[in-house]
Amino acid sequence: MQHHMKKVLSPLKKFSGMTKKWMLYWRISIWKHAMICFSDHRQPQSEQSAAESLTCNAREENHMITLTVNGKKRPVDADPDTPLLWVLRDNLGFTSVKYTCGISECGMCTVLIDGEARRSCIVYVDEVLESDITTIEGLPADHPVKVAWIEKQVPQCGYCQPGIMLQAADFLSREPNPADTQIDAAMDNVICRCGSHPRIKQAMHLAARLAAKQGG
Ligand code: FES
Ligand code: FES
Repeated sequence: MQHHMKKVLSPLKKFSGMTKKWMLYWRISIWKHAMICFSDHRQPQSEQSAAESLTCNAREENHMITLTVNGKKRPVDADPDTPLLWVLRDNLGFTSVKYTCGISECGMCTVLIDGEARRSCIVYVDEVLESDITTIEGLPADHPVKVAWIEKQVPQCGYCQPGIMLQAADFLSREPNPADTQIDAAMDNVICRCGSHPRIKQAMHLAARLAAKQGG
């Protein structure tokens, strides 16, 4: 009986020993961390680190740039070599501009730059300081593409649609009366995982007719 009890208790003892060790390790870690924080705050700042933080502040101040998005000038704090996609999404809150591949393959991040459909994941902000940038929010509600997209109920999940609509708007502004094959070629490089391309084609024909009625 005694032997049996020993057998049962031995793993429990081992476990409790391990727990004690972990508790000790945990306390030492917290203590060490507290000491590091405390000493960081107490140590006088060396001349070099003061100079470094001044340079850093100066650099931060120099990050202010102004972008024209949807007809409005918008000051923004961003490095000049930041992809436009991230400034539009993270700094300015235009989350209609979608991130997917990040390497100009899918078209989800498409915006209009001076009227031309461009992939914002590969455009740096310092390239567009003098440009007019348009996201889907910037197309008027009665724009033929917006009206046609609603009429033909194009989107399924909707994720790809802002980029695709802007690419369509650019294409139709250059090709007001496109044939099926021209639409296929123009929209072949934007990806819709829901398979909305047949409806995109119908909507583009309708948008072309609506634009013609509006006088171009
Ligand atoms: S995220 Fe820019 S093209 Fe795919
Ligand atoms: S509608 Fe879902 S990805 Fe295009």
